[in-house]
Amino acid sequence: MTDELARQIFTTWERMAPGWEERRDEIWDVSEHVGRQLVDAIDPRPGETILEIAAGLGDTGFLVAARIAPRGRVISSDFSPAMVDAARRRGAELGIEGVEFCVLDAQALDLPDASVDAVICRWGYMLMPDPGTALRETRRVLTREDRLAFSVWGSPDQNPWAAIVVRALVDAGHMEPPERGGPGIFSLADPARIETLVVEAGFEPPQVVDVPMGWPFDSFQDYWTWTLGKAGALAMIIERLSGDERDAVRASVRDALGSKAAGSFKLDGLCLNAATRASQV
Ligand SMILES: C[S@@+](CC[C@H](N)C(=O)[O-])C[C@H]1O[C@@H](n2cnc3c(N)ncnc32)[C@H](O)[C@@H]1O
Repeated sequence: MTDELARQIFTTWERMAPGWEERRDEIWDVSEHVGRQLVDAIDPRPGETILEIAAGLGDTGFLVAARIAPRGRVISSDFSPAMVDAARRRGAELGIEGVEFCVLDAQALDLPDASVDAVICRWGYMLMPDPGTALRETRRVLTREDRLAFSVWGSPDQNPWAAIVVRALVDAGHMEPPERGGPGIFSLADPARIETLVVEAGFEPPQVVDVPMGWPFDSFQDYWTWTLGKAGALAMIIERLSGDERDAVRASVRDALGSKAAGSFKLDGLCLNAATRASQV
């Protein structure tokens, strides 16, 4: 892991925060079930302290708040201050109580050992330069034998919403084919790798379930705008292209969609939701 890579990932998410906040309702409408599955997996109880890592706009953690009241606490955290601010605004708008908003890097959590009862993380670990370190940090802050549930994306063929853009960028020579094990949308798409990392970090072998979803788009332009505003590192690569290069990538994405691009369409996604407990030491 290089500091430069970590800095790039940080800058990417600071830049993505406004786009995510702007389309927050749409994102949540199509993905609430993914977050709800994680919350059910940790089964929060009144009075517990639950940490959400890489919380983005905070919605999954907001589902927890009602279940740990009264006296429980949700720590909604993300390493991007812009995301944390957006989550704080959203929490206030919804009148959510019992949530603390913190800037925390999952790879170096500024929290005491054994200080939380469960951790959730939706669509976070696979983006980190060193998910093994992040999982060990997660284990460190959990009380003995306690619970972790997280969601990552499955393989490219299960996630055309992102794979189509990746393929267009790789084919045009604007990015290397995603490296096995390197950070990125698909880096934890292999359940065997998830198990290895989770067990090495001090957890029981996880249960991993498929959670399908789909992203609806009104038009090809809607999909393209969405990609530019939300698709993390992919959006940043496209942003750095010249106008002609960007137009060529856009055309190749459009071609890949074929006749779908003529109207409204939905692109499939598949999440792998993993649940485990800290193993006994
Ligand atoms: C794809 S978004 C997911 C946001 C939210 N969990 C959701 O499900 O909507 C990824 C989030 O991970 C955060 N993130 C990436 N690397 C991180 C790290 N090392 N520590 C904490 N947050 C991180 C980003 O800032 C971003 O908010």
